[in-house]
Amino acid sequence: MKQFIVTTAMLAGAGLSCAVAAAPPKGDPEKGKQIVSQVCLACHGVDGNGTEPTNPEFPKLAGKQPEYLFKQLNDFKAGKRKNEIMAGMVANLTPDDMANLALYFAGQKARPGVVKNPALVAQGKKIYLDGNPDAGVPACAGCHEVDAFGYKLYPHLAGQHTEYTFLQLKRFNSGERDNDKGLAMQSVTAKMTEQEMRAVAEYLAGVQLK
Ligand code: HEC
Ligand code: HEC
Repeated sequence: MKQFIVTTAMLAGAGLSCAVAAAPPKGDPEKGKQIVSQVCLACHGVDGNGTEPTNPEFPKLAGKQPEYLFKQLNDFKAGKRKNEIMAGMVANLTPDDMANLALYFAGQKARPGVVKNPALVAQGKKIYLDGNPDAGVPACAGCHEVDAFGYKLYPHLAGQHTEYTFLQLKRFNSGERDNDKGLAMQSVTAKMTEQEMRAVAEYLAGVQLK
């Protein structure tokens, strides 16, 4: 958590803070696995590592924070995060199912991602670690941690498919994804260029996993 101290001033400068916390959901990951092996595996893989290269817009879920995954499932169900595919997937899930699923995917090991355009990685790393202060883009590391492994409601981003990360940044930027109210991603992306979004997505795909 020490990097939070280093970056608080930078975030405050951008009008942001990292004060949000959430308790992890309680449940049984084995029960989550039963649902995964019947439903979710088609798009997210049974181990939550996704189905790239066929579908790079289906996210990896392995190793993401249980707090974050649980929130997303609830947001899809409540219509706060809008996605037709996922709305159908969560329609019949109970709160217990969603807790079990979040714990199951959080407990899976993320596999390394694939960098598509290595020429963008250096620029992406700079944005991730330092932001773009001239343009008012804050450092991503301030909330997603220096290693991109995340913390509670700040999701793990390391090794994610480039296309998925890029798409989410664009959707936060356009307001199409607005389930981060009070959690900053719309303002983080407000000043980003499309080129910067691609660069940081490439960097994240290649971040070393532990
Ligand atoms: C037919 C494909 C498909 C199936 C099956 C599917 N998903 Fe998804 N899932 C997606 C897509 C596409 C997205 C990205 C939605 C977006 O862009 O907002 C997604 C996103 C998610 C997210 C948000 C991830 C993040 O990093 O924010 C979670 C959590 C999730 N799915 C869980 C599940 C669970 C649990 C199941 C099984 C009950 C499931 N999905 C079944 C396609 C699928
Ligand atoms: C002030 C804190 C903060 C900063 C700074 C920040 N993020 Fe986020 N980010 C969040 C939170 C909180 C969420 C989860 C939003 C939600 O609940 O849907 C998030 C979500 C995301 C997601 C969606 C992940 C997924 O699986 O769908 C991506 C991608 C992302 N951030 C990338 C970045 C990048 C790139 C930067 C730097 C340019 C950045 N973030 C800076 C707080 C932050």
